[in-house]
Amino acid sequence: MKNLDFLKDYHKNTKRDYYKERKQGLEKVNFAIKAKQFGRLYWDGDRDYGYGGYTYDGRWKKLAKRLIKYYKLNNNSKILDIGCGKGFLIYEIWKILNNKVYGLEISKYAIANSKKEIRNRIKYGNAKSLPYKNKSFDLAISINTLHNLEIEDLFNAISQINRVAKKKYIVVDSFRNEKERINLMSWQLTCNALFSVKEWEWILKTNKYNGDYSFIFYE
Ligand SMILES: C[S@@+](CC[C@H](N)C(=O)[O-])C[C@H]1O[C@@H](n2cnc3c(N)ncnc32)[C@H](O)[C@@H]1O
Repeated sequence: MKNLDFLKDYHKNTKRDYYKERKQGLEKVNFAIKAKQFGRLYWDGDRDYGYGGYTYDGRWKKLAKRLIKYYKLNNNSKILDIGCGKGFLIYEIWKILNNKVYGLEISKYAIANSKKEIRNRIKYGNAKSLPYKNKSFDLAISINTLHNLEIEDLFNAISQINRVAKKKYIVVDSFRNEKERINLMSWQLTCNALFSVKEWEWILKTNKYNGDYSFIFYE
């Protein structure tokens, strides 16, 4: 189990004012309720509800290349992206390797609005129960998804990821100090699992996670 930060520069590239950009207080309750439906408002509605418009811009190409290099993926590699959203990362991997890359996603809106070239590779489903055979993937990826799960579902999802793939790479929101905890709490709309690095590492160990991982921090 290694901490591999393939996304460090990604998060830092976007400047966020955690307090001004996200309305705080009671007003935010409604935004969070709507955001958690992962429907149109979350992806392409006003910024108060989430992404504020998430269109393809090629940003995941760099990550695709890093994953391919590190995990030595080739045209025969079978890859699964859990919580793949609009499938932008699997699209990038598919463009490079033209291989067996698939996604699993709980948002019907995201699937319907994914890149059409890879849409039929995305299955509707929940990370807590993965409809695949043991070790059927060479690599399972889950980027910024698992912190949205409630604890029981999270534990199940980690065991499921362990089960279906040989290698794994997951990325979740976390914090290293009080400032980052408050920043994350102020920014987030959909997180159910708000844990420190120490807590996440305990959760991974407790669930016998045997893949790699990384964290997003709100500095
Ligand atoms: C922050 S988005 C990240 C999307 C994508 N991985 C990316 O980085 O572009 C979180 C994703 O988790 C998905 N999600 C939330 N709960 C889920 C669950 N229980 N099972 C599968 N996907 C889930 C959401 O629909 C959304 O696509």
